[in-house]
Amino acid sequence: MRTRITEMLGIDIPIVQAPMGWIARSRLASAVSNAGGLGIIETSSGDLEAVKTEILAMRGLTSKPWGVNIAQHFVRNPEALVEFLAENEVAFVTTSAGDPALLVPRLKELGVTVFHVIPTLRGAEKAIDAGVDGLVVEGIEGGGFKNADGASSLVLVPEVISRFDVPVVAAGGFVDGPSMAAALALGADGVQMGTRMVASAESPIHDNWKQAIVDAKETDTVIVNRHHRPAMRTLRTGLTAALEATDEPAILDIEKMMKLYFGGEMEVGVAMAGQVSGRIHSVETVESILSSAWADCRSILRDLGSRAD
Ligand SMILES: Cc1cc2nc3c(=O)[nH]c(=O)nc-3n(C[C@H](O)[C@H](O)[C@H](O)COP(=O)(O)O)c2cc1C
Repeated sequence: MRTRITEMLGIDIPIVQAPMGWIARSRLASAVSNAGGLGIIETSSGDLEAVKTEILAMRGLTSKPWGVNIAQHFVRNPEALVEFLAENEVAFVTTSAGDPALLVPRLKELGVTVFHVIPTLRGAEKAIDAGVDGLVVEGIEGGGFKNADGASSLVLVPEVISRFDVPVVAAGGFVDGPSMAAALALGADGVQMGTRMVASAESPIHDNWKQAIVDAKETDTVIVNRHHRPAMRTLRTGLTAALEATDEPAILDIEKMMKLYFGGEMEVGVAMAGQVSGRIHSVETVESILSSAWADCRSILRDLGSRAD
């Protein structure tokens, strides 16, 4: 079964791995690409030297397609990064956290396929005006940086699709065959998975965070920094419950974040994750996540097709 993004990106399974600071590095991204999906290298950590090393490492880890996310707000010189990506023949880029008009025209000039990440219909309009090839449409149930007033995937994805004729990758709440089939039924061409990839064997983050996702119920996430930037959906901990209850801005302290990400100290920083944490019951390999999601999705679509007769 082909979708527009499998054709466009040369992948077998229409699953894109989410860009996630420090997590979406070459080990995880190459595992996703080798399993038939599209691995993405992050830049939102802002550590461009490390990111460049990861980009160069990808060549030795996979011969399949992969891409890079440019998180504009977090990258000091995004224009220079665009040139670096073109020199290194990166064929697919997602842009996010900033005005799409800033980078999309140059990326297109360089022959790069570019999707912009959007949390609202207004964001989609701006991205289309900037000339994107497609959109990553993010619902509020997803983990990570969010527009606190955003709508859920079930509302936002079909609304965007009804207005613009470009391929859409649905993000926020997608984790397995049933949720993926739902995205395709809404008109999306594929899904992006964030939280599911955090709790994968190849994710570099500490086991405590993975286990907290496995243990979480569907009600165990909160949005912190609601009145500041960036608002974030995170796992509910003592720290994030306190942050949710205050109007004070959350400080993103890199030293503390590293203690959380790689030391497993869950109360020193915000452990981002989406509501789908409540649907993740074990840590799985990337290969197993992608192959079972795609096999189940296809079988559901076949079954639904037969019900229409
Ligand atoms: C731990 C974590 C970190 C994230 N970091 C980023 C980021 O750096 N840049 C970005 O554009 N999105 C980020 N996101 C959002 C994801 O790209 C993705 O859209 C979202 O996770 C999809 O929803 P899901 O968590 O329900 O799969 C992050 C998500 C998580 C869970």
